[in-house]
Amino acid sequence: MHYISVTDLKTQYKTQSGIVHAVDDVSFFLEKGESIGIAGESACGKSTLGLCIMRSLQGGNVVSGDILFEGKSIIKIQEPEFTKKYRWKEITMIFQGAMNSLDPVFTIEQQLHEILRQHNYTGDFSAKASETLISVGLNSSVLKKFPHELSGGMKQRIVIAMALLLNPKFVIADEPTTALDVLVQAQIINLLKKLKKDGMSIMLITHDLAIISEIAEKIGVMYGGKMVEFGNSSEIYKNPKHPYTQGLLESIPSLKENKKPKFIRGNPPSLINPSEGCRFYERCPHAMEKCKNEPPKIKTDSGYVLCWLYE
Ligand SMILES: Nc1ncnc2c1ncn2[C@@H]1O[C@H](COP(=O)(O)OP(=O)(O)OP(=O)(O)O)[C@@H](O)[C@H]1O
Ligand SMILES: [Mg+2]
Repeated sequence: MHYISVTDLKTQYKTQSGIVHAVDDVSFFLEKGESIGIAGESACGKSTLGLCIMRSLQGGNVVSGDILFEGKSIIKIQEPEFTKKYRWKEITMIFQGAMNSLDPVFTIEQQLHEILRQHNYTGDFSAKASETLISVGLNSSVLKKFPHELSGGMKQRIVIAMALLLNPKFVIADEPTTALDVLVQAQIINLLKKLKKDGMSIMLITHDLAIISEIAEKIGVMYGGKMVEFGNSSEIYKNPKHPYTQGLLESIPSLKENKKPKFIRGNPPSLINPSEGCRFYERCPHAMEKCKNEPPKIKTDSGYVLCWLYE
């Protein structure tokens, strides 16, 4: 039994322009103590995947597939039970851009207490709030402050503290370092590393493959709603198989080597009426005739790749 396993997950949004196939047959798994990085360019379905696991989709539906957490299907659990037992308590999410939506009219203390109240926390609210703030590297004097009095890095730590208040085991962190300067980014990454060391599993969603290499044992690379490659990060960094993964890795600038980063020509596909064939076909340097058909799922040493090159 895996700690977490997602199997053939399909999630759609119904919009006026048509059905958006935001997550399309995505599968991956994690063992206990492992973390995963989800990479891919904008609008490929990363946040949607996180929101499915957190069961916080707005306007979207899981159409098929399953998500097992410690062997139990969290898709099938009825709502009051999910909130009572799982949401924030077992599984939590640092939502994308949440640091910009802290409530401006309440102090940090009031906002932390509100979460504890909503989840019927029975311990000492003040002790819990300051203990959690300290665990994310903030001083408890921050409790009396309003969000506008804090820097971006401090606000991001507050958002992380909120997610951690009820001691969850699995944290989905959606772009937790985007919009922060590199030094603060490094501090947030160190904080995530510390959480991991304390036994938490993290699903880190990011555009930045370099950040994933610091935290996650596993990587899932998404493209156009599909997870085109999944496996151990050490293996994928050393030997990326999918041409899109190769392109992503080659586009990371290096300070050490005097090598120009490459870019991937073209634009990502529309997720409304996507083609049956490989979604990367239009942009792939190795495109073949048969790529117009659905690519096979080829097993690799630690996961899989969706590509005809390895048939
Ligand atoms: N609530 C929604 N209603 C309709 N369509 C949505 C909704 N949320 C996301 N989408 C669409 O689903 C697709 C995937 O979006 P998602 O936010 O999951 O991408 P992402 O990979 O997280 O992108 P980014 O890196 O920019 O955050 C996009 O085409 C997006 O427009
Ligand atoms: Mg997103």
